[in-house]
Amino acid sequence: MAVLADRCKEIKVTLVDIDEKRINAWNDDDLGNLPVYEPGLKAIIRRNRNKNLFFSCEIAKAIKEADMVFISVNTPTKKSGFGAGYASDLKWVESSARQVADFSSGHTIVVEKSTVPVRTAELIQDILSDSENNSRDSNNKKTFSVLSSPEFLAEGTAINDLENPDRVLIGGEDNDAIKSLGKIYERWIPSEKILFTNVWSSELSKLTANAFLAQRLSSINAISALCEATGAEINEVANAIGADKRIGKKFLAAGPGFGGSCFQKDILNLVYLCKYYGLDTVSNYWEQVLTVNNWQKERIASLIVEKLFGTVTNKKIALFGFSFKANTNDTRESPSISIANDLLENGANLMITDPQVLPHQIEKELHSRDSETITDLKGSWSFTKNLEECVKDADAIVILTSWKEYEECDFRSYSKLMRKPSWIFDTRKIISKDSLKGSGIKFWQIGMGTLNYPKVF
Ligand code: UGA
Repeated sequence: MAVLADRCKEIKVTLVDIDEKRINAWNDDDLGNLPVYEPGLKAIIRRNRNKNLFFSCEIAKAIKEADMVFISVNTPTKKSGFGAGYASDLKWVESSARQVADFSSGHTIVVEKSTVPVRTAELIQDILSDSENNSRDSNNKKTFSVLSSPEFLAEGTAINDLENPDRVLIGGEDNDAIKSLGKIYERWIPSEKILFTNVWSSELSKLTANAFLAQRLSSINAISALCEATGAEINEVANAIGADKRIGKKFLAAGPGFGGSCFQKDILNLVYLCKYYGLDTVSNYWEQVLTVNNWQKERIASLIVEKLFGTVTNKKIALFGFSFKANTNDTRESPSISIANDLLENGANLMITDPQVLPHQIEKELHSRDSETITDLKGSWSFTKNLEECVKDADAIVILTSWKEYEECDFRSYSKLMRKPSWIFDTRKIISKDSLKGSGIKFWQIGMGTLNYPKVF
């Protein structure tokens, strides 16, 4: 919405939220306190805030004034009730739709922006139709058009993804509403990149795009383990297959498993939808993407323990990176959470560092496991921003996020501060093996085969 306000100065954009603290943070004079860290975002907020971009808790007023309402609330995986562990919880979408129904006036275009299961627009439409019917004979006659326009930006590159998207999707039935939304996007996006579909295709395309992307990562991560076992090298394999245009170069970086608020949630949702429609084989197929992802995280924690003589109890391990990827402060479903918890359960003393994640966020994530496992946490953890302090006397450095800062580190000099024999575990492939030559440090890297592999025949 900030980019939309930036690109369309004559449109007044008001962001409303029931969380007053969050709205206050968006309105904070110190732009360092914005709730989201995203490269380029501060500048856009600075340029537009209180000109045509407003942050407010006055939900009723904003809805009443609006010609178009974007529902952009979270749709987390349900924790209890029917579909628990798989289905998306739509309570926030529903309550937003009810608020739009209550507070709108005249004709309102309602755009479903949240990632939702297929046919959610029906739920929104049903709620709005009731309100339409009830208002028919009143002074405040209300009408609505519901569109689906899912978001494809990735965190860390959000501004560029919004300014130069591969495509924008608009799903709907009402041509006037579709045109109104299309015209907004056309202000900065070439019209051939704006795709029109029916509402259900639009909703399903979003889930499918994420499922395909996550599937690529599970595929390359599965092959990373095979590289380690055979002496092949994952970057060489990724380059070789990526050169085939049908496969493509992007999203082939093997890592500690994918994280983020989207892939796992959306695949669980897809799995649930397939089950619901009786497509068990299809649902099992997609669930395997998550099985491989969990396996990748677990195998990394377990090989760290194995290499450190089978025990990490009371050993100091420096964890580099807690966000789920570089250039974001988001830690949701970060592979660092599961790897850190596994090491803690094995008694490690972790020293965690991250340039953007705050310790209280780490605290929340590490203790969000179910109570049974929390009592099993045997090790301890602390936090520092200072990388030298982080590695001092450590037995191992584990690189979990590819922050640029870590690519620029002098690991040879860090190795002198560590306890011997010292290890680096590079799960993001940011260090070149040559840069460590002669340092005596032991080195493991994702997808890097060793030459003393056993022969197959
Ligand atoms: C993802 C999709 O990429 C977006 O298109 C989508 O709009 C978004 O979900 C969403 O549904 O809102 P995001 O989760 O922000 O975006 O981040 P990604 O760049 O997709 O990264 C996800 C995870 O995959 C990260 O943990 C990242 O480190 C990992 N990854 C990504 C790899 O391990 N290797 C790669 O080559 C790429």
